[in-house]
Order: sequence, then C-alpha cells, then structure tokens
Amino acid sequence: MLPSELVKYKEKSQKIIALTAWDSISGSIAEQANVDLVLVGDSLAMVCLGHKSTLPLTIENIIYHTNAVTRGFKKKIEDQPLVVSDMPFLTYQCGEDKAVEYAGKIIQSTYAKAIKVEGAEPEIQKVISRLIRMGIPVMGHIGLTPQSFLNQGLKKQGESLESKEKIKKEASILQEIGCFSIVLEHIPELLAKEIQNNLTIPTIGIGAGNFCDGQVRVTADLLGLNDDQPPFCKPIVNGKKLFNDKLKEWVAAQRLN
Ligand code: KIV
Repeated sequence: MLPSELVKYKEKSQKIIALTAWDSISGSIAEQANVDLVLVGDSLAMVCLGHKSTLPLTIENIIYHTNAVTRGFKKKIEDQPLVVSDMPFLTYQCGEDKAVEYAGKIIQSTYAKAIKVEGAEPEIQKVISRLIRMGIPVMGHIGLTPQSFLNQGLKKQGESLESKEKIKKEASILQEIGCFSIVLEHIPELLAKEIQNNLTIPTIGIGAGNFCDGQVRVTADLLGLNDDQPPFCKPIVNGKKLFNDKLKEWVAAQRLN
C-alpha cells in the first residue's frame, strides 16, 4: 500500500488500524493481525533496546530494525501493510539537507514507504515541506511528542486553551504543507474530534480517544510486555506475566527430567 491510499480510508470512513513493530517476530505478528499500517516507531529504543527514552536511537538503528520488521512479513507484497519508519532524534532537527539525506537513506535502504516526524515548529515545517517536495511522504506527529520530553515531559497535551489552539493550528499547517496523515498523541478526546472533523487527511490517535480516523498502539504496551505502561494504553493481555509463568514452569519441569 502507498501512503496516498491511506487518505482514501478517510473518504470511505474506513478505520485505519496500526501497530508498532521492531523486529521480524513483532512485524510478523502485526501483519498477521491484519493491520493496515506498521509503524517502526522510535519507541523501539525503549521496548526493544532497553533505553530510558527514544533519544538514543540512531539512523542505523531505525534502518536495521525496519529491515528486520519487513523480513517477518509473509503476505504477498500487495497485501502487506504500509510501513512507516520514525525519523530518530537529530536526524531532522538540524536542517533540511540533513533531513533529506537521512529520510532518503531510510527510503532507499528499507521497504518503508514513508517516514514520521515529530512536531510542527516553523523549522520542522520547512523540513517536512522539503521532504515532501523531494518525494518522501511524511506522517506528522503532534500532541505529546516523546522526543521533546525534556521540555514538555510525558504529560497530556492540549489541556489549556493555549495548548489546544496551538495543536489545532499545527494540525492544519501539517495538512497544508502536505502530510498524508497525522498521529495525535495523548490529547483530549474532544480536541482530537475537532481536528478529525477539520482535516481531510486521516488522524491516527494514541491516547486521543475514539474519534480519530484510526488508532495506533505500541504493540509491546498492548500485549502487556513492558514494566512501565503508559496511562493511555490498557493491555489486552498480561503478556509479561504469562510468558514468565510459562517459562518458569518449563525450566522447573526440565530440572525434574
Ligand atoms: O514511536 C512510536 O511508537 C510512536 C507511537 C507512539 C505513535 O511514535
């Protein structure tokens, strides 16, 4: 699937369902779950590489993990989910030329068909415009943007009038400059609804209520594999305990043989 096809989901009021993946097993699980989109998010720095934040992730890491994810796909190419890779911290904040080089590297060396960039500050708008003009589709990401956690923490955004207005404006600008969709993270449900109504491109929510055009989740959170669960992702299974118990049972049984 190409990014432009995702926009048609909104026209048909068809929900977009997305999961993150970081290796071939999680890629295969996401694909087999029939998601529309697999995001190789920089959250892999935490859920897969053991870092405390997304900031240490490098361009080499995202390329390596994007390739691992798509090696896990088993469906025919035309039935595979759209793959979007995150631009790691410092691959797009240092200006347009560097951003084109790094985003181009991702597109050139993986099966990702688009990249995701956090924020919508004037400098970032310029970067996004340039990437799109150079043929690289961009997914926006506003609200809580984890790469800015040193400034904004990990708290819900869009609670004050000022913050609400800022996020609404950013969403419109991202559409105007050509993003094919926007992730809305950890904002009030009614704000997400208003943005969803105002835009023709799809909004994909995480911790943004039920009114977005789609939903994305960090697969490890959904499966309950992490020790630190974000407040807006209720696990559907207590995966860590399940696997721990089963493996403990297996180890104990082997000792008796
Ligand atoms: O990195 C990531 O997994 C993300 C999701 C939270 C949308 O950006």
